[in-house]
Amino acid sequence: MKLQPNAAQTWSPDSWKDKAIRQQANYPDQEQLNAAVSELSQLPPLVTSWEIKRLKSYLAEVQEGKRFLLKGGDCAESFADCNSSVISNRLKVLLQMSLVLIHGCKLPIVRVGRFAGQYAKPRSADTETRDGVTLPSYRGDIVNSIAFDAESRHPNPANILKGYHYSSMTMNFVRALVEGGFADIRHPEYWDLAWITHSSKAAQYQELIRKISESIEFAEVMVGRKVSSLSRVEFFAAHEALHLHYEQALTRQVPRQTGWFNLSTHFPWIGLRTNQLDSAHVELMRGIENPVGVKIGKDTDIDYLVELCRVLNPHNEPGKLTLIHRLGASNVEDNLPRLIQGVQAADLRVLWCADPMHGNTESTSNGYKTRRFENISKEIELAFKVHKANKSHLGGVHLELTGEDVTECLGGARALQEADLTRAYTTQVDPRLNYEQALEIALSIKDYYNA
Ligand code: PEP
Ligand code: CO
Repeated sequence: MKLQPNAAQTWSPDSWKDKAIRQQANYPDQEQLNAAVSELSQLPPLVTSWEIKRLKSYLAEVQEGKRFLLKGGDCAESFADCNSSVISNRLKVLLQMSLVLIHGCKLPIVRVGRFAGQYAKPRSADTETRDGVTLPSYRGDIVNSIAFDAESRHPNPANILKGYHYSSMTMNFVRALVEGGFADIRHPEYWDLAWITHSSKAAQYQELIRKISESIEFAEVMVGRKVSSLSRVEFFAAHEALHLHYEQALTRQVPRQTGWFNLSTHFPWIGLRTNQLDSAHVELMRGIENPVGVKIGKDTDIDYLVELCRVLNPHNEPGKLTLIHRLGASNVEDNLPRLIQGVQAADLRVLWCADPMHGNTESTSNGYKTRRFENISKEIELAFKVHKANKSHLGGVHLELTGEDVTECLGGARALQEADLTRAYTTQVDPRLNYEQALEIALSIKDYYNA
């Protein structure tokens, strides 16, 4: 018989309401909020339980080193960017990266996009003050709008439904593209981005594509037929499960399945600012069947982490729990060994994933929030090394990136400088790798993996 999660305490989709609630908007009108949530509760799910279970089985294989996890997308999706070119460019860059990794690591890649629901953001302060005017902080498009005026910053329950609709349009387009042959590995030119001709890494990428095409041709000639499965790839969706009302409204039971599923996404995660043991977010996540990620940092205490793993994965189920460490390049060697060893000593099954972005954020002298490519790359390199030295292994990476030609992170092959940041800095929250830097990171990851 399957035990209920954390049998000692009863769980329900709204049991989070009795826990410590952090990082939520203050909705002035509760009635409007309740009406939006109850409407959302009636709308169809965005993903299905069988997709979720399939992803969990893949993640169990990632844990065993049989697959590699590539997770990437915007820090904050925006409603304005819900258009065909932004969505398909993001898919293209993830496809290109996955091809580099398949070829370089000789492993199947589990592709997960930070999309179709990455609309809620944690903030360091509830309010923001400019020129003596204080307004609520921007908490993501699912809550309010980024413009600094009272009307825009007002948390609006209608945005919860909008967030659902934009997520569903995104998911629909992604599904249509990947089902429809866009991702056909025999036609990687479908997913070429403009950089191909001018990047310093173009030759390396093109050579790899040439080798893959040759191998496919060879295999097809050998078996005397086309390999049909090459025309489709799988993509899964992930987002930070931050907006508790939104997540609850899409947490459902499903016919002929046991347990509850969060059907807003395949792979929700809990951010660093809401990962406490008494947290409402941990409560909501502990009762669902989805694979769950949790961010941990350099200050994460090991006794607390062991307890957190037991709460989120009470049956020590493979593929269920991903620990996403975001330490900062300079903290990996000091902090990662104790985290790995503590988890090993408690015999916990987890998937280790590196987020090399959030521990490496800094501000430039001209006032931009940025990240240096070399620190991002270094953190991944060290994470591979430290896991290996501790008889563990790094199963994946979690990146903030875009398929657009933005200038938000410094460095990379094109050596972006502080002055370049003014050219195309468009992120709503954190700086992302642009398409060129993202591909370059993939080329580095395969080298670190094979080192
Ligand atoms: C994020 O992934 O955008 C984020 C806010 O990360 P963290 O919780 O690790 O700070
Ligand atoms: Co971010």
